[in-house]
Amino acid sequence: MGRKPIIAGNWKMNKTATAASPLATAVVKEVAGAEAEVVLCPTFIALGAVAATIRGTTVKLGAQNLHWEKEGAFTGEISAAMLTDMGCTHVIIGHSERRAYFHETDADVNRKTQAALAAGLTPIVCVGETLEERESNRMESVIRRQVLEGLAGLGSGLGSVVVAYEPVWAIGTGRTASPAQAQEVHALIRRLLAEIGGPAVAQTIRIQYGGSVKAANAAELFAQPDIDGGLIGGAALDAASFGAIVKAARSKA
Ligand code: PGA
Repeated sequence: MGRKPIIAGNWKMNKTATAASPLATAVVKEVAGAEAEVVLCPTFIALGAVAATIRGTTVKLGAQNLHWEKEGAFTGEISAAMLTDMGCTHVIIGHSERRAYFHETDADVNRKTQAALAAGLTPIVCVGETLEERESNRMESVIRRQVLEGLAGLGSGLGSVVVAYEPVWAIGTGRTASPAQAQEVHALIRRLLAEIGGPAVAQTIRIQYGGSVKAANAAELFAQPDIDGGLIGGAALDAASFGAIVKAARSKA
């Protein structure tokens, strides 16, 4: 079984609910007939508007975060069941901005991943090293810790996870990892997934690349043997750019 590429648009804290609908409509037009699985991840409060816009199409809905508890006194938080109720099938977990600005830990990522899987959501679990970690030769140990701790104890759920490798130094900076640099870390992540779940499962898990992916560099990145699509930030806010990135993705044998 080959790996179907998955391209997710992480809209971050952009677009009101009112502005989200026309963007989603334009994306639907751009990606019609695409080989890749396409997921749009607007803000929580735009989920309803985007769900209504993409209904009946192949485009899927994802959130940018969730809380691991089912319900209760957690002011400001959103549970997995609330996301599935809105029509979400996917959820981004452990984005580097959440780790850096909201102090999310690998243990939090693990709890959130367990909660997402329990609710039938596909978790898109983000990992990636900072520039300082890369330059002090700690990339491998950081990725190892994030993968092994973030994805610990998932059992058969591991096979449903999508991993996003996003080197922090490439996010929103215009500085993309070279295809060879990205492939090296994707291969490392696949070896780590094999350590946890065995080589057969690891071969089926999709690993996205994220960090300044654009129409101009997407095809070269997606051609790498262990890169199965992308998590797209800035370029996802423009339907034509996002559409061109989606069209650059091909299934892996
Ligand atoms: P970028 O963001 O494409 O704007 O670099 C990617 C991400 O943070 O998911």
